[in-house]
Amino acid sequence: MWRSYIRLLFKTRLPWFWLGLLTALNIADITLGLLLPAYTAQVASGVITSTVITGVVVVIVVRVLFSGIIRYIGKITSYKIDIRYRKLIWNRLMRSPIKLYDTVKPNEMVSRTVNDTSQISAVISGLLPALVGMVYGTVYIAKVLYDYDWRLSAGLVLYSPVYVIAIIFYGKWNYRTHKYTQNRLAGLTQFLSELLVSIPLIKSFANEKKETNRGKDNIQLYYKANMKRSLTTWVNTPLTSLLNLFMELFVIIFGIYLVTQGTITLQIWIAFFMYVGMYFGMLETFGVMYTQIKQSQGATSRIAHLVENDLEQYHREQEVHNNQLDLEFDHLTFAYGDKLVLDDVSFKIPYGQVTAIVGPSGGGKSTILSLLQQLYHPNDGQILFGDTPVEKFHLDSWRGLFSYVAQDSPLFAGSIRENIVYGLEREVTESELVQAAENANILGFINEQPEKFDAPVGEGGSSLSGGQRQRVAIARAFLRNSDFLLLDEAMASLDVQSEKAVQAAMNVLMEGRTAVVVAHDLSIIRNADQIILLNEGKVETTGSHEEVLKESELYRQFVEFLNNTTEG
Ligand SMILES: Nc1ncnc2c1ncn2[C@@H]1O[C@H](COP(=O)(O)OP(=O)(O)O)[C@@H](O)[C@H]1O
Ligand SMILES: [Mg+2]
Repeated sequence: MWRSYIRLLFKTRLPWFWLGLLTALNIADITLGLLLPAYTAQVASGVITSTVITGVVVVIVVRVLFSGIIRYIGKITSYKIDIRYRKLIWNRLMRSPIKLYDTVKPNEMVSRTVNDTSQISAVISGLLPALVGMVYGTVYIAKVLYDYDWRLSAGLVLYSPVYVIAIIFYGKWNYRTHKYTQNRLAGLTQFLSELLVSIPLIKSFANEKKETNRGKDNIQLYYKANMKRSLTTWVNTPLTSLLNLFMELFVIIFGIYLVTQGTITLQIWIAFFMYVGMYFGMLETFGVMYTQIKQSQGATSRIAHLVENDLEQYHREQEVHNNQLDLEFDHLTFAYGDKLVLDDVSFKIPYGQVTAIVGPSGGGKSTILSLLQQLYHPNDGQILFGDTPVEKFHLDSWRGLFSYVAQDSPLFAGSIRENIVYGLEREVTESELVQAAENANILGFINEQPEKFDAPVGEGGSSLSGGQRQRVAIARAFLRNSDFLLLDEAMASLDVQSEKAVQAAMNVLMEGRTAVVVAHDLSIIRNADQIILLNEGKVETTGSHEEVLKESELYRQFVEFLNNTTEG
């Protein structure tokens, strides 16, 4: 559990000044506190001089003032740690490969950036000052007691393990129940957030009753976990009291024994009593800290994992100088985790031509477009641009070559305008914008909106239909005007009329560019310069429509099926 912490400590620059200040203040505070028993012992044994009285008053007043300052500096320090880790995580989230997001869900990312960091900063800002303070205080007390009588300090050292062991056992138990409740809470939150997005689905399947019950079960589980947890709170107070009681008994019996033996005076015994109290106070702080560290263990290992994950490598050897080259998949094998998707495939995507990728769903067509943009990397083999492996090009300049219309065309929450110009570095004129929208056959719809181009699209584009979202994405591709066009079933959710209109504009757009289109549309496929037929992770055939038609039974079935559906 310590290893994650130590690893994390070196990932970002900590506010050492503030941590140092906090530690110094803490030590000053402890020193003041340690002065008190000596004074009080004197007062109690009848030595009431004005120096003693002033000493006591000054110490108490200063400590009161100190406690506020220490807490304030503690907060500042933990916020300063917070901000560093949040920025670090955010930075890394932006630069992490998409692969990461296949395994960690967005919800979890949010909680890592927001909640986990504050747990960690609380521990880091508390840990150093407390540890240093504790070591200092312990040594100080042991030394003072030793000076009084060595047996006092030996007795203290002998008794400590009882206390520490009890605290550690309690800490472990506390941690277990904490983790259990946290898991139940996470389960409940996840259940609710998943279900609430699917309300329309639930209603259309008339599944409200079943889901209501599932929800109740989840709520009940969390309740039970909380009940279990409250038991640890219940035990906490008696446990502490009991330990204190034992401690006091020990001090009294041991002290009285020493006093009757005549080895120590009553005054020393009073000081001893108070020092022991303070010492166990410190041990208690250690106990609280131990629990805190235990509880943030999950957060720490999650964040450590996140900040140690590989990042995308943006800076590489070469800029892309010459665009007019063929792309080539060279014995490329790719798997998502264990799931093999492309198995030793080789084909060319000639410059300036239209290549259509066809094949059954789940065959890896979209994956090819992802690999082209280096969103994922092949397990084996490579993609060549001319003669150069694409991994040699600076990533920004490489991805800048492509206009990509994704299969499900997700949009950003924002206006239509923002979505169309997204990612463009240059200024876009109004007439360019109108032209792009017109080409994508979305201008009519935009003009019907009261806010025109500034109409909001809702979260993820939810206030637009699938076809409208797709046309916004197509308008973006028109505006981007890249050398390479990647269209992933870009026309799939268009109605027949818009499809015709968009298709015409698209043909103009594709003219003289390299286009890779995944399509189930005969008119596109037939006009493509080259067809790549993908089946079960292998390239079955490549060639023109006629060639593939002649060679592949699968393709003939496919074409026949398309013919039937279009006619029917
Ligand atoms: N991010 C992912 N993680 C795991 N498996 C995936 C992922 N994306 C796609 N797959 C799987 O890889 C296979 C190929 O997917 P895809 O390239 O989208 O096929 P196509 O576009 O031809 O329908 C499918 O079986 C799909 O389930
Ligand atoms: Mg696909």
